[in-house]
Amino acid sequence: MAETLHLWRNARIAACDAAMARFAPGALLTRGPRIEWVGAERDLPAGCRPDESHDLGGAWVTPGLIDCHTHLVFAGTRAGEYAERLLGRSYQEIARAGGGILSSMRAVRAASEQQLFDESLPRLESLLAEGVTTVEIKSGYGLTLKDEAKMLRVARSLARALPVTVTTTLLAAHAVPPEYAGRPDAYIDEVAAEWLPTLHSEGLVDAVDIFCENVGFSVKQAEKLFASAARLGVPVKMHAEQLSNLGGSLLAARHGALSCDHLEYATAAEAQALAGAGTVAVLLPVAFFCLAQEHEPPVAALRSAGTGIAIATDCNPGSAPGSSLLLAMSMATRLFGLTCEEALAGATRHAARALGMQEERGTLAAGKAADFIVWRIGELEELGYWSGFNPCRSVVKAGRLVS
Ligand code: NIG
Ligand code: FE
Repeated sequence: MAETLHLWRNARIAACDAAMARFAPGALLTRGPRIEWVGAERDLPAGCRPDESHDLGGAWVTPGLIDCHTHLVFAGTRAGEYAERLLGRSYQEIARAGGGILSSMRAVRAASEQQLFDESLPRLESLLAEGVTTVEIKSGYGLTLKDEAKMLRVARSLARALPVTVTTTLLAAHAVPPEYAGRPDAYIDEVAAEWLPTLHSEGLVDAVDIFCENVGFSVKQAEKLFASAARLGVPVKMHAEQLSNLGGSLLAARHGALSCDHLEYATAAEAQALAGAGTVAVLLPVAFFCLAQEHEPPVAALRSAGTGIAIATDCNPGSAPGSSLLLAMSMATRLFGLTCEEALAGATRHAARALGMQEERGTLAAGKAADFIVWRIGELEELGYWSGFNPCRSVVKAGRLVS
């Protein structure tokens, strides 16, 4: 049976493509889960006979937002550590004393798969409610083969529970687990040679990530992991230059990483290398804010190098306890100096590239997924302006109105 043709008309459309094209009044034609046509209403294909027509009353429409960096599957919180940080203890000190990521690890290991799912679901619901239709979810709080698999399976089940596309990233290289204390090289060898191939063969891994940092792993260790990923054809990503500069981003660029994330301490030369490799710079302003960081990412250098800049929540219990991409976009404008338009492109087109999904998502164009958002806003710049208010009116996922 032919799929139903829907016309969504009388909209102000922000395609979020490279030209940031706008159509007003604009229209979209969707057939099943795909966009068939998008443009100005007066250019609608002659003789088009939609099965259903929806008048959007002049509302703004953008692609479904994409949160390309989250750790949203976790158990418990680290509110106690936050209180300590407010009193002056640093994130690194807490990590070195066995708290931080390892404290979330203990909570995740102790949680059943069902508990982990139940605790994580509201965070994904919160993203969906504000127009996020694609989310990347990392593992990295299990740190055993069994517990990393558990986290990744929960990420997959969340995608079945809600109308959100989920991509999974193996971040076993997040911290050295107690079983390997003092033996980080042995741990990376195990992850690279055993865990990654095993979890990949189970269909649980869409990409691999590593926390390259003075409290994380070295560039050399990242190289080992990336070599194993390359053998399996798994794309790579990296947490780099967040708290110090280790030069991980240059390795990420050499390996053609999908994205390099954080980058507060990145240099202009590194921005250039990322641009040359087509690696997206993912900025995470909520982590910057919650860690009270002062060293800003090199936005001017990223811009002049032409590096794609994406914005994500980094939703995690330690450095970014929150689940609002709209807030992250607003923080990216105020804290990092992005324009509202750059923040919107960062949560759509560039975020899609950071996940290797630029062919299917991130812009409104014929052939792409019919994921789009109808907003209750007067000006497009309100996306990037509201700081703790959700103007999402409806979500269309794969051609279906889901909220
Ligand atoms: O992106 N930097 C490493 N990962 C997270 C923090 C994780 C945590 O503290 O639990 C981040 O900031
Ligand atoms: Fe992160």
